[in-house]
Amino acid sequence: MNISNRLTPRYFTLILSFMTLFLLFTHTPTDITTDSFDDSIFEASCSCKTCIMDFMDDDWFVYRYDPTITPLLNRKNSALRRDTYKWWRGLQPSSLRVNYTEVVDQMFSLFPDKDHYADTSPDRCRTCAVVGNSANLLGSHYGSLIDFHDVVIRINKGPTKGYERDVGSKTTHRILYPESAVDLDNNTHLVLFPFKIRDMQWLISTFTTGHITRTYTRVKSSIKADENKVMILHPAFIKYVYEKWLLRHGRYPSTGFITIIFALHICDQVNVFGFGASSTGTWHHYFDRSRTHFKGGPHGGDFENKTLHKLQQRNKIIIHKGYR
Ligand SMILES: *[C@@H]1O[C@H](CO)[C@@H](O)[C@H](O)[C@H]1NC(C)=O
Ligand SMILES: *[C@@H]1O[C@H](CO)[C@@H](O)[C@H](O)[C@H]1NC(C)=O
Ligand SMILES: *[C@@H]1O[C@H](CO)[C@@H](O)[C@H](O)[C@H]1NC(C)=O
Repeated sequence: MNISNRLTPRYFTLILSFMTLFLLFTHTPTDITTDSFDDSIFEASCSCKTCIMDFMDDDWFVYRYDPTITPLLNRKNSALRRDTYKWWRGLQPSSLRVNYTEVVDQMFSLFPDKDHYADTSPDRCRTCAVVGNSANLLGSHYGSLIDFHDVVIRINKGPTKGYERDVGSKTTHRILYPESAVDLDNNTHLVLFPFKIRDMQWLISTFTTGHITRTYTRVKSSIKADENKVMILHPAFIKYVYEKWLLRHGRYPSTGFITIIFALHICDQVNVFGFGASSTGTWHHYFDRSRTHFKGGPHGGDFENKTLHKLQQRNKIIIHKGYR
């Protein structure tokens, strides 16, 4: 009793100084004249010049970006909430009855069951290039700039052979699903984007029995790729992108858009190439005349485009537009 009475004023001082500190830390850096404070109290989230996680005081970004979400699947994080499971199963519905838990189990008896990219640190500067398939890459001479990144993520069939000058030659990650599958070299991570449970079964099949030859269309029954570099996007991540980033526009997000948000979660800096139309307004691939899906199809193309431009305005990504 006596002791606590004597301590009361000191407690007050203590509480007051904590409150002051709290106010300081919750203030945005720009509200404080920089010369009156030691820079070290605003510890950088990475060692690049700019980091994705810098300035987490931007309401627009903070509302959308969930730093706790796990982009990639493993056994431990694989359980899906009932609503997530239902939403995911509705994307590309099929009448096949499949046990998700068993499929996940089979996958991770073949592929690395890891906590991927849980290594964010103030000392890390991981630069990433996301390379889309737009014809605006043609004539761009972006090749060496793209290859300069630590991580180069390519999407679906987008080839490098014969296009090195404009798209580069390095591929550390390739985003695939059964209908877009191609062979990979041994330096490339296959990143499966599962839009349905059949895609997971196909992944298992391509590395084992090869018995799956069809999804909703004919698919490759086997591909060349390093089994020890396979990664699987978490189905809950697709829903996160749809709800938080697209505010439910369209039916579900496009592969390209998911890839950019995926990069925001595994990289400290993101440069985007080969997205959007060419300067003549055409929407086709750099490697063939087939059209990229922008306005048609199940994706909210306009909203995706707007969101990407907002990310660019906030310096979270840089979109390189090409020269055509
Ligand atoms: C799925 O398989 C697991 C493990 O074999 C089993 O415990 C579970 O009851 C199955 N779920 C359904 C819905 O059949
Ligand atoms: C990749 O690795 C596999 C198995 O180790 C090997 O058989 C194959 O020749 C390698 N491919 C290339 C292109 O190096
Ligand atoms: C995408 O958004 C930007 C900026 O809002 C705009 O300039 C551009 O025309 C849009 N592209 C398309 C194809 O709608």
